[in-house]
Amino acid sequence: MSPALFIDFFLIITKNSFMENNKLNLEQLELILDNLFNGVYLADGEGKTVYVNKTFEQMAGISFEEIKGKNLHDLVYKHKYFTGSATLIVLQTKREATATYRTITNKNFLVKGKPIFNEKGEIIYVVNTIWDLTNIIYNSNIDLDTVSNFKLDQQNLISSNKRMNEVINIAIKIAPTDCTILITGETGVGKSLIAEVIHKLSTRKNGPFIKINCGAIPENLIESELFGYESGAFTGASSKGKKGLIEIANGGTLFLDEISELPYNTQSKLLTFIQDKEFIKVGGQKHLKADVRIISASNKDLYTLSKEGKFREDLFYRLNVVNLHIPPLRERIEDIPLLTKYFLEKYNLKYKFNKMIAHDVIEYFTKFHWEGNIRELENVIERLILLSKINLITIDDLNKIEFNQTIKDIHKSGNLMSTLNSIEKQILLNEKKSGKTTREIAKSLGISQSKVVRLFKKHNISDAKMNH
Ligand SMILES: Nc1ncnc2c1ncn2[C@@H]1O[C@H](COP(=O)(O)OP(=O)(O)O)[C@@H](O)[C@H]1O
Ligand SMILES: [Mg+2]
Repeated sequence: MSPALFIDFFLIITKNSFMENNKLNLEQLELILDNLFNGVYLADGEGKTVYVNKTFEQMAGISFEEIKGKNLHDLVYKHKYFTGSATLIVLQTKREATATYRTITNKNFLVKGKPIFNEKGEIIYVVNTIWDLTNIIYNSNIDLDTVSNFKLDQQNLISSNKRMNEVINIAIKIAPTDCTILITGETGVGKSLIAEVIHKLSTRKNGPFIKINCGAIPENLIESELFGYESGAFTGASSKGKKGLIEIANGGTLFLDEISELPYNTQSKLLTFIQDKEFIKVGGQKHLKADVRIISASNKDLYTLSKEGKFREDLFYRLNVVNLHIPPLRERIEDIPLLTKYFLEKYNLKYKFNKMIAHDVIEYFTKFHWEGNIRELENVIERLILLSKINLITIDDLNKIEFNQTIKDIHKSGNLMSTLNSIEKQILLNEKKSGKTTREIAKSLGISQSKVVRLFKKHNISDAKMNH
């Protein structure tokens, strides 16, 4: 409510506050109900809709007329107005209930329902209070217009970060040109994803996209894997010989992941292929041709490696015609809420859940170090969705999963006190997680029990369910 509106509201209330028999009159009651920040939904003992306040109508984009007198059972299961209902749970369990659901108008609501009983102990009404969680996972300072959500087939490339958007724009521009690209950045930042997107935007999109992780294949096999071998090239080789990935990628793109791990000998052979577009199979003599675009990726600094003699300098320059450097997630904090929302939807869909995430969890995410970058964020969200007990994922759920805050993971704010505070909190949370009493915690940490209680207070850790 704006201050002006609030004053109006206050004046009206005081002006009319000559209450008859100490009771509010209907006009006043309506005024209050319609100006609450929460939605109100009243159902009767059978689940029929009796009343909703204006706030609910506005929040939901659903008018009272549409749902008046309709039973919540029908509204949920037949008309699909809501994906769930607190009222129905209250009627079933005869107790207060909390539910989260999505409306037909695509809003996420958190609802608390309370039963009202008659003298016989039967439910005559269910009073529901409703919070709108739709925008809860967005940071208020995100300018949604700057988000590039680049959809391509099954691929989603999401970012609202300026540097990242520059990378995406260059990728789009050079995708059709056939030039050799080196993608650099820490593990999990999206190097493989960008490589695939480039392929799909290139003139080779109908050709194969072949991926090889140079770090995952034993050194003695990688050459034959890449270039193939002739029959009888070595003991154990198939008598028919084998096509290499370069040949298989003909007409398409070959993506060489973790290129720094390519053995030195094979590096020379790859260089020859890039220069001449020709190669020879292991154990063969014939010069074969293949039309392949090379995209490579590395989380190591190839330039430094080449200066140290660990990577062929000439190959480095050949691969690095265009360099796309993807910044780590901790340097594009504005992407964290967006990616969280994206992965939340992805895994809600996969596991048929309708879970939401509390704002303070996102807040916490934005301060995390994310060593494993987007891959780590994705894993954390998938595990949270699977493990959280109710539909709203809270800070408490973070402590349930193995989301181990080590010192290096704690956001390096440069401020010693805040870092020490985070560590202190983490130690307490870990102790609490193990189900110890405050006395046991005091003993294991070598401090007094009252100090444990004080520290819990200081860090806002609830000790409600603990044995003292
Ligand atoms: N900008 C992005 N938007 C959406 N998902 C992303 C984005 N960047 C990475 N991902 C996802 O994060 C995971 C890790 O990305 P990946 O490309 O494998 O990283 P890298 O190759 O750098 O280790 C993948 O599941 C990928 O789809
Ligand atoms: Mg990868």
